[in-house]
Formats: sequence, structure tokens, C-alpha cells
Amino acid sequence: MAPLQKTNKIWHNGKLINWDDATIHVMSHVVHYGSSVFEGVRCYEVPSGPAIFRANEHIQRLLDSAKVYRMDVPFTRDELVKGMLETVGTNGVWPCYIRPLVMRGYGEAGVNPMNSPIEVYVINYPWGKYLSSENEGCDVCVSSWTRLAPNTLPAMAKAGANYMNSQLIKMEALMNGYVEGIALDANGFLSEGSGENLFLVHRDRLITAPLGNSVLPGITRDSIIKMAHDLKIPVVEQMIPREMLYIADEAFFTGTAAEVTPIRSVDKIPVGKGDIGPITRAIQKEFYGIVRGEKADRYNWLTPVPVRSKQPVGV
Ligand SMILES: Cc1ncc(COP(=O)(O)O)c(C=O)c1O
Repeated sequence: MAPLQKTNKIWHNGKLINWDDATIHVMSHVVHYGSSVFEGVRCYEVPSGPAIFRANEHIQRLLDSAKVYRMDVPFTRDELVKGMLETVGTNGVWPCYIRPLVMRGYGEAGVNPMNSPIEVYVINYPWGKYLSSENEGCDVCVSSWTRLAPNTLPAMAKAGANYMNSQLIKMEALMNGYVEGIALDANGFLSEGSGENLFLVHRDRLITAPLGNSVLPGITRDSIIKMAHDLKIPVVEQMIPREMLYIADEAFFTGTAAEVTPIRSVDKIPVGKGDIGPITRAIQKEFYGIVRGEKADRYNWLTPVPVRSKQPVGV
């Protein structure tokens, strides 16, 4: 993947500051104890300009994650959505990835997080494809690492600390020559990838794990479920045994980073015929049609960003 490309400004607690000034102290609580919650959002390029995909839903999930961890965020959902618009609009860099972040800053040493101040940031930067091209399909494995067990770290919260588990899954997969790993939950049922939700197609039905199987409530997952209903593709949220991966007709990952990425093999067993199946293609056509502005935004998922001019990156 390409190295991080900086933009001009970062939104910090309601004000735009220079990219290079957005630094934190090494004794900030988050550095030692992983006390952050965050979002990953995409801003697409549609014919009328930049547009953020499901801005409200992403910020709502950020506030939900913060609530689980007793973080009082001093901004409303609307203010944070405006913060994203302001950041992208000011930097003039799109398409891009947007990273809203809430963290515990510099205050007190020790595990108790309650006396460290809440810091809120919104960052945006250019970012392309994540796992593979949407036309290619990726080769994945089942991870030897288990996803977060219930009553350990809450999977519904998108917390920085959860991604230590994701890193183990990802590194193992890469070291063994795969692009991604699929983790099972604490009971051995399919959960999700290190940073994506998982969908299987079996006998013309779309199957995905319910939230009880330690999955993040993905915004893309939700979008795919809505589009599938409209395409009259039956969707079931059910516990999925591992072996379903090997007998599925089709499989794909969904996520802000992965968008809709087909899976062509699992543990070196081809998924279906090893190419992209018709249901995956139908879902991709809808999803990419909407986010590229080629199809009507009939769900109102895109928020236009007011901008002055497009800027070169790396300023
Ligand atoms: C662990 C995990 N699961 C699923 C997803 C997909 O969620 P979304 O579609 O909201 O990006 C992500 C990415 O944010 C993730 O990190």
C-alpha cells in the first residue's frame, strides 16, 4: 500500500490546525492503554464534486462507541459531520478517506481513563483500493486467532484497542501469503475479517453473521443488506459454521476500506468456481453505481462537500 500522503489541515476540537501541529504527548492515555474510538469514512468523487458516504451513520457509530467507553464527546453528531465537511472542503483533496478520532489525551498516568481529557480529531487523506481490485477477488485464510470474545472487548464499539486483535489476524495472513484472514468467534462460528464484514452466497441466499458473533456493525454491511432487499435477493443473518466457507457459491468482504471485494479462495479452496459470481456482481453494480454517481442516490447516502478548489496532495 502507498505511504500516507499528508493534507494541509486537521480538525482538532472544533478548529483547523496544520497537519504538522497535530501531535500528542507520549504520556497521553491513548498511547499506553489504547483508549480511542474512531471511524473510517470514504469521500467519493461524483459528477457534482466530492460526497461523503453515509456521514451521519458513521458519526453516530463514533458517538455510540464513545458512549460504551464513557467518553463524553463535547460535539453533537451534526457538529462532527460539519467537521468532516470542513476538513475535506478546506483541504480540497478527494476522493479520500476520512478518519474521525476520539481519544483520551494527556492528564493522569494509570489505567483509570476518567481524568484524561477527551480530544477529537478529523483527518482526511487520499487512499485507494484496499484488498484487491473489485474485478479480481482475493485469496484469504481462516485465522488461527479468534475474534474478541463477548465480555472482553465490545465488538460493536470501533475502538483502537480492538485493532490489536485485527493486527494479529492481518499479519498472520500476510506472512502466509494471503491478503486477509477471516476470524472465527469464541465459539468457532464465522465472524469477520480483520477490517471487513463477510458475506457468503449459498443456494441463492446471502448470508452474514449477526452482531452476536463479535462483528462490527458495518455501515457497508448495512448498505448491502438494504440493496439486496431491493434487488429481491434473500438475506439471512445467522450463525455460520466455518465449513460453509468451503461450500459457498460466492463470498465477499464489505467495508469502507474494502468496499465490495470478492473472495476467490479460502485456505486454497476455490470459492464456487473461483471467479466472481452473479450475486456478488449484482451487489457490486449497485454499490459502485451509487458511490460513483452513475446511479441515483436513492437512499440519500451521499452528503455533498462544499469546496473552493481541488488541491494537489503532499502540501
Ligand atoms: C473489524 C471491522 N469489521 C467491519 C468493518 C466494516 O465496517 P464499515 O462498513 O462500517 O467500514 C470494519 C471497517 O471499518 C472493521 O474494522
